[in-house]
Amino acid sequence: MKSFYITTAISYANAAPHIGHAYEAIGADVMARFKRLDGYDVYFVTGTDEHGQKVEKSAQLAGKSSQQFVDEIAALFSGMCDSLNVSYDQFIRTTADFHKKASQAIWQKMEANGDIYLNKYAGWYSTRDERFYTEDELTTLPTGKKISTETKTEVEWMEEESYFFKLSAYTDKLLKLYEQQPEWVQPEFRKNEVVSFVKQGLRDLSISRTTFDWGVSVPGVKDHIMYVWVDALTNYISALGYPDVNTEKFKKYWPCDVHLIGKDIIRFHAVYWPAFLMSAGLPLPKRIFGHGFLLTAGEKMSKSVGNVIAPKDLIEKYGVDQARYVLMREATFGQDGDISYPLMTNRINAELANNLGNLVQRTLSMINKNCGAQVPKPGILEDVDKTLLQKAGQEMLVLVRGEFEKMQFSRAIEEFISVSHAANLYIDEQAPWTLKKTNPERMTTVLYVLAEVIRNLGLIIQPFTPVAAQKILDQVAVGANERDFSFIGEAHALKAGTPLPAPSGAFPRIVEDTANSGDSAAAKTA
Ligand code: MSP
Repeated sequence: MKSFYITTAISYANAAPHIGHAYEAIGADVMARFKRLDGYDVYFVTGTDEHGQKVEKSAQLAGKSSQQFVDEIAALFSGMCDSLNVSYDQFIRTTADFHKKASQAIWQKMEANGDIYLNKYAGWYSTRDERFYTEDELTTLPTGKKISTETKTEVEWMEEESYFFKLSAYTDKLLKLYEQQPEWVQPEFRKNEVVSFVKQGLRDLSISRTTFDWGVSVPGVKDHIMYVWVDALTNYISALGYPDVNTEKFKKYWPCDVHLIGKDIIRFHAVYWPAFLMSAGLPLPKRIFGHGFLLTAGEKMSKSVGNVIAPKDLIEKYGVDQARYVLMREATFGQDGDISYPLMTNRINAELANNLGNLVQRTLSMINKNCGAQVPKPGILEDVDKTLLQKAGQEMLVLVRGEFEKMQFSRAIEEFISVSHAANLYIDEQAPWTLKKTNPERMTTVLYVLAEVIRNLGLIIQPFTPVAAQKILDQVAVGANERDFSFIGEAHALKAGTPLPAPSGAFPRIVEDTANSGDSAAAKTA
């Protein structure tokens, strides 16, 4: 069986999850579910990044020990994944012993390769971004304070003894990598940013700290802990049992198929991480995909602006499946996306309730009333029937799969929504309610074709709306072991005469309380 290893970034355990974290987790989940259904042996890892000064400071502010603090935050993140039906195989926490050991092991490999040396670091550091900045990446405010021009976070001057990684030695090797594998970093415009950054020449990277101790100890050295990114990136292999590279698990899943991350941390994944891996003599991941940020009305979500949409607000307002669907639908994956309640409500109503939901509802209730609550027996198929069945079968799968290969989830949705739309046009044109009187045999054929389209749609929507998909598949009596994508298409069509349960709606319409619209508590489902 072909394998597929996918990871998200691991989130800083310094604060509760927000919608950006949910967006990434859902994106990875949709991909993982698609691949499982498409015949891959999938391993999906997500988790929390629990070390570093930022986490330590947040714990102090909360008046808790660092360990107690990260235990609580990690539970919020795994809870968020569970509440969104994110089907991770492993939730990794970087404070776990096995992870610390793996981080020390990769350090030792890089050291043995001659890439780590001791020196003194003097420069600017941002605790919030957990990264160093060069003078030309900073802006000096009238107050004299310096901030990162890109992220606007304040930097502090830092001078301490530090171990360095010889990143400068990897400039050419990295450029060669981007040249030989042009799709290694996606989307393309992000790759171009990475290439121009590396072309300027790389400086060696300070990779240990001595002024605090919430981190993984540098092996064999007192008072030094690893720079949090060395430990954080290593999660992708510690999750597979590194340093033991001879296990079935490691051999099956490494190199990783895709690291799904946000645009703000591409440099760490597309520059530092491959350099560390080359130094440690490990194969490189196959792809880094940097998704965009979710914005509201063009602005970054922030507590001070008051435009934060929390994952649980979306679930309460729309339901889990609908929240997953709308986040994947609204933004082109890879670019920033604007979300707002009115747009999301419209989208859910237009596509899930009115288009897909309505198709299922009207077809299945007609079958229930007019065909003895069984899969109808088709007569001779006309061209129009065959065309629709083809469109909803292998043809749809191939188009959707093509979009998944590019991680273009919104376009994948468009492909099956257009099939549902075509089925709604077909039902209007064929008018089975009229055929009931004029040509009952033809009515039966039309309803059979529609039931079969619904079966295929129920199968293909599973990655996005897993619960509603099961409900739809139950309603057309698809067996539990007939739900992967090998069952899409005519070869596995519904069998006439199979009894069907009483139909019930899969996608309710969202009704806004207009007096209060925009408020998370304002919508009801109807
Ligand atoms: N701990 C590091 C990642 C280490 S990976 C070895 C980190 N954590 S984070 O909590 O700040 O971010 C976790 C992920 O969420 C990142 O991929 C980040 O880009 C993503 N997002 C954070 N805010 C976001 C939005 N507003 N929108 C979409 N994704 C965003 O970085």
